[in-house]
Formats: sequence, structure tokens, C-alpha cells
Amino acid sequence: MSALFTPFKLKDVTLRNRIAVPPMCQYSAVDGLTTDWHQVHYPSIARGGAGLVIVEATGVSPEGRITPGCTGLWNDEQAEGMARIASSIAKAGAVPGIQIGHAGRKASANRPWEGDDHIADDDPRGWQPLAPSAIAFGGGLSRVPRAMTLDDIAKVKADFVAATRRARDAGFQWLELHYAHGYLAQSFFSPYSNHRDDQYGGSFDNRGRFLLETLAAVREVWPEHLPLTARFGVIEYDGNDESTLAESIALVRRMHASGLDLLNVSMNFVIPDVRVPWGTQAFLAPIAERVRREAQLPVASGWCIDGAEVAERVIANNQMDLVMMGRAHLADPHYPYQLAHALQESQPAQVLPTPYAYWLSRYQGPGKASAQ
Ligand SMILES: Cc1cc2nc3c(=O)[nH]c(=O)nc-3n(C[C@H](O)[C@H](O)[C@H](O)COP(=O)(O)O)c2cc1C
Repeated sequence: MSALFTPFKLKDVTLRNRIAVPPMCQYSAVDGLTTDWHQVHYPSIARGGAGLVIVEATGVSPEGRITPGCTGLWNDEQAEGMARIASSIAKAGAVPGIQIGHAGRKASANRPWEGDDHIADDDPRGWQPLAPSAIAFGGGLSRVPRAMTLDDIAKVKADFVAATRRARDAGFQWLELHYAHGYLAQSFFSPYSNHRDDQYGGSFDNRGRFLLETLAAVREVWPEHLPLTARFGVIEYDGNDESTLAESIALVRRMHASGLDLLNVSMNFVIPDVRVPWGTQAFLAPIAERVRREAQLPVASGWCIDGAEVAERVIANNQMDLVMMGRAHLADPHYPYQLAHALQESQPAQVLPTPYAYWLSRYQGPGKASAQ
């Protein structure tokens, strides 16, 4: 058996293999409510055979959404739709996960295919973004956020806790806090976006405080036997990579000590002009490996890990415990079935549910002779 198709156990949860579908916004929600799109999209992908399917970045509050089309978990009606998704993912044999977050100064944006920029200040579809400091991201996201008061910070932490309870009660078995990609939590930790002079800004301890306090509060309500994870950017690709990495890994160690079970290693995206090595396959794998080794916790990672050979390699070489494969699943929801073929698993069709596997175990593909 390949390394990629080896099961992975974390706390009381066992994934059938090391393939994870990372959170991917569908921009298809209405008032934070899931729609038919989500109810079809998630089980379709889960049926393809991945071990873990993480539902898209879901706002802990209306103003925590990235766009008006993003899902939310701030009311019970939203939780009902999410419960159906969690159940359908689990019935397909994957572990149902969800990413919860607050978009901070990147909130109130248009959908990517409608511009990906901030909604105009006077457009009623938009809202006032919040952030540690009144500093805009820049580029198309130029709206200046309101600097959060201590009451705002307390409210957002409480919103994370309430969303965690709803995710737990909806049947999710894997929680991912969105601490990456320049959204609220990441922007608290970065000196680029956090110029506060109170206990939430300045020193390493102060910039990490919001992330650690939120994690600790969430840990109190998220069941101890289920994985509590975070996606966190550890590198900005701005030329100061070594110092950012060292500081980020120091914070990850503290997160681990506060109850974090696994880190989904990602990038910061706090400033617009960065030099991400997009053309290089699995460029984050050596970074993930370093976080895994130095912070001594299991890690997942992704970005441009395409194809069986590279996915197998990053797992077999212990660079990461799980490999996140996103767009490949949009291209083919049964992507793990293709990976199983490519890695010459003995029964690739077994990756799929029985109503498909029964037939495909005898079928060689279009145009090829096959048993009935
Ligand atoms: C349509 C789309 C939506 C995304 N939404 C999210 C999201 O909700 N949360 C997140 O952390 N990353 C998000 N991402 C990033 C993906 O999780 C993933 O890291 C990225 O697609 C790179 O992996 P890939 O090369 O395997 O596609 C999104 C990416 C895409 C393509």
C-alpha cells in the first residue's frame, strides 16, 4: 500500500487515507445560509474518496465573512444546513471538518469573479471591516478598517466560541480555525497590520495574544476527543522569511501547548506584493516539514501539490501527515480514485462508495474491453 493511502489517526478520529480536501469558498451562500449548491458539492467531493473534507471558511459573524456569498455559523438556521452537510460527508466515508474564521480587513469583498476587490463604501451589500489597526490591505482591498476596541476583541472571541459550539452540535469532527491568509487572526500576529500599543500589539507575546486566547476559549467547548486544528501562515515571502518563520514556529509551539492538535501550514498573505514561488511544485513542503520537526506536532499542507508522485513523496518523506489537494478536486471530484490508480493500489475502485465501486472494479475505461 502507498503511504498516501495509509490511514491517519488523530485523537479519536481516523481518516481512511492522507488525502484532505482543503477549505474552498463557494461564494454561493445567502445570508450565510448554505444553498443547494453546498448540499451537492460537499457530498460529491466526499464520495471521491478523500479522508477529510473541510467545509469552506465560514464566518463567525456577519462582518466576519469575506464576501456576501460566504457561509456563516452565527445562527441556528445556518447550523441546520451545516448539519446536513456534515452528515452527508460522513455517510460518504470522509471525516467532516469545517474552517471557521473572521476575515478582518479583507471582509466585505466582491466574489472573485465579480472583482475580488472591496465592495464600494456606499454599496448597501458591504459593511465596515474590523482589524487590529486602521490600516488597509492595499491593492483592490483598499477600504480602511476600523481599529478594534477591547470590547470588539472580546466579542469576536465569543463569536468563535459560539460558532465552535454550533459546529460541534452540527456533527463536525474536525475543527480548523482560520488563522491564515491575512484575515483577522493572521493580521493580529503580523507587524505589518498590527500597530496597536495595548496588550494586543507590539511584542511577540502581545501580537500572539488574540490567537492564543481564542484557541484556549475554543478548546474549552470543542470536545477533547476531537481534533482541534488551525490554518496559519508561517511565511510571507517578503524577503524576511527566516525571521517570520522562526517567530511563527515559536507561536505554533505555544498553540500546541494550548491544545492545538495539528497545524495546516500555509502562507501569510498580509501584504499584496509578495514573491510566492508559484511555479514550484510542493514549494511549502520543506516549510511544513520544518514546522513539524521544530514544533513537534502533526501538520497538513498543500498549495501546488498536484499528481500522485508528488503527493506520495511528501507523505512518504514525512514532510507532512496530510496532503491538502484543492483545485484537483474541483477538476475531478473523484480525484483520489485517479490517485489510487496512479499509485497502483490493489483495488482502486474501493476508494469509491459501493454503488460506484462495484461496477468500476470490472470496468477498464471507455473504449476498453471489460468484464460485465
Ligand atoms: C475556490 C477556492 C476557494 C478557497 N477558499 C479557501 C478557504 O475558504 N479557506 C482557506 O483557507 N483557503 C481557501 N482556498 C485555498 C485552498 O484551500 C488551497 O490552499 C489552494 O487552492 C491551494 O491548493 P491547490 O493547489 O491544491 O488548489 C481556496 C482556494 C480556491 C481555489
